[in-house]
Amino acid sequence: MLYIGIDLGTSSVKIILMQEDGTIVNSVSREYPISFPHPGWSEQNPQDWKKEVLAGLKELVSEDKKNQVAGISFGGQMHGLVVLDEDDNVIRPAILWNDGRTIEETEYLNEVVGKKKLSEETANIAFAGFTAPKLLWMRKNEPENFTRIRKIMLPKDYLAYELSGVHATDYSDASGMLLLDVKNKQWSDKMCEICGIYKTMLPKLYESYEVIGNLKPSIAKALGLKNDVKIIAGAGDNAAAAVGTGTVGDGKCNISLGTSGTVFISSAKFGVDRNNALHSFCHADGNYHLMGCMLSAASCNKWWMEEVLNTKEYNKEQQSISALGNNHVYFLPYLMGERSPHNNPDARGTFIGLTMDSTRADMTQAVMEGVAFALRDSVEVARSLGIKIERTRICGGGARSGLWRQMLGNILNMKVERISCEEGPAFGAAILAAVGCKEYDSVEEAAEKIVKVKTVESPDPALVEKYEARYQQFRQIYPACCELFSKIK
Ligand code: XUL
Repeated sequence: MLYIGIDLGTSSVKIILMQEDGTIVNSVSREYPISFPHPGWSEQNPQDWKKEVLAGLKELVSEDKKNQVAGISFGGQMHGLVVLDEDDNVIRPAILWNDGRTIEETEYLNEVVGKKKLSEETANIAFAGFTAPKLLWMRKNEPENFTRIRKIMLPKDYLAYELSGVHATDYSDASGMLLLDVKNKQWSDKMCEICGIYKTMLPKLYESYEVIGNLKPSIAKALGLKNDVKIIAGAGDNAAAAVGTGTVGDGKCNISLGTSGTVFISSAKFGVDRNNALHSFCHADGNYHLMGCMLSAASCNKWWMEEVLNTKEYNKEQQSISALGNNHVYFLPYLMGERSPHNNPDARGTFIGLTMDSTRADMTQAVMEGVAFALRDSVEVARSLGIKIERTRICGGGARSGLWRQMLGNILNMKVERISCEEGPAFGAAILAAVGCKEYDSVEEAAEKIVKVKTVESPDPALVEKYEARYQQFRQIYPACCELFSKIK
């Protein structure tokens, strides 16, 4: 049988068609616009997602394969607020995960409701991109829209709704709303009360590998697929990516170098770090995970290459980088503010250490190293909890750069393993679809049988030492700039 994995990303949707043994039969990618209506805001139109997904699905499955498609599942950009009215029409554009408009609401939640209360109710504290502060923002700034809300959904759940007619979500994605009692896997009454919403507005909760319904007959007909194609709940993109890289079960690590950058640690047990610096979320395999998320990762490199240097020749620029570990230029990668571990929407990107002999290559190197240093900040929080990480899997667009993988391996002092299928979240989603259709007994079994390591980068002790010294300098830059960031708006 064939399974479809849809990764609803921030700049595009990637869709793959997978055989039950993990072989990729076809893949398509389609872009949609993102708008930044004010500095720090970030929105998308859910109708654009639907349009491109339907067009992508048509392109994906050739006539002779249509009868073999058994299930469809999703990985999706997390935390985005999609609100529907009583007729299930979208009320306003979706407010995305990297939108920083909720500074006041986040402060209210953390300082007035209090971090302790939030952590007791949800296992997490408020971050500007999470869904609950967005609801508070809407209540205050768009009261007319707010009173029309009948359903609150996450981006991939809106797609699942359009394909199946069912309002559903999964525990991993729901964890990022700050409305879920993560430990007990149920909506928090207290958080609903704080946000002024009814529990009936929230979708029904499922495990990521559970079937929520069948493809709607009208969509099945339009796509030429069978009516009994199953729709499987899916997961937030990081949990889906973790499935796609085999980061399931206990104590494994995955790094995603996409628009955002994440350090994802799977865990068989529920746990929270003392300062809630890492997110404590449910995993798509039925367990839990800890995660640090930086808001701009590979997107810093894209910005530097395409907006500043005006080139798309990433390889050529990276080839002129010669001396790993010796750069005197540093870059703070906070182009959209920062989530983990600083939780500061006012943080900004910064070059520091420039001299008359600094070169273009030094600055390119600083951007890539800055992202790796910032990921290490999250790894350090995990290490401070006694979690030992000796190797990590890696996925996302940035993972295609051998140089970046090498930097990461040395900066984090870990083996970095790249998987043969590069489509992390879409691959994970297709695996979840296969598990939902009972092709495998569990997500762990499927990942074990399907996911293959392609390359391994091992740290070089001399470079690890050099980078250790540079990381110790890097970590002093943010505290030195922090006060300034809130003043230079
Ligand atoms: C995770 C997060 C991002 C988005 C990107 O908490 O906000 O990784 O899911 O799509």
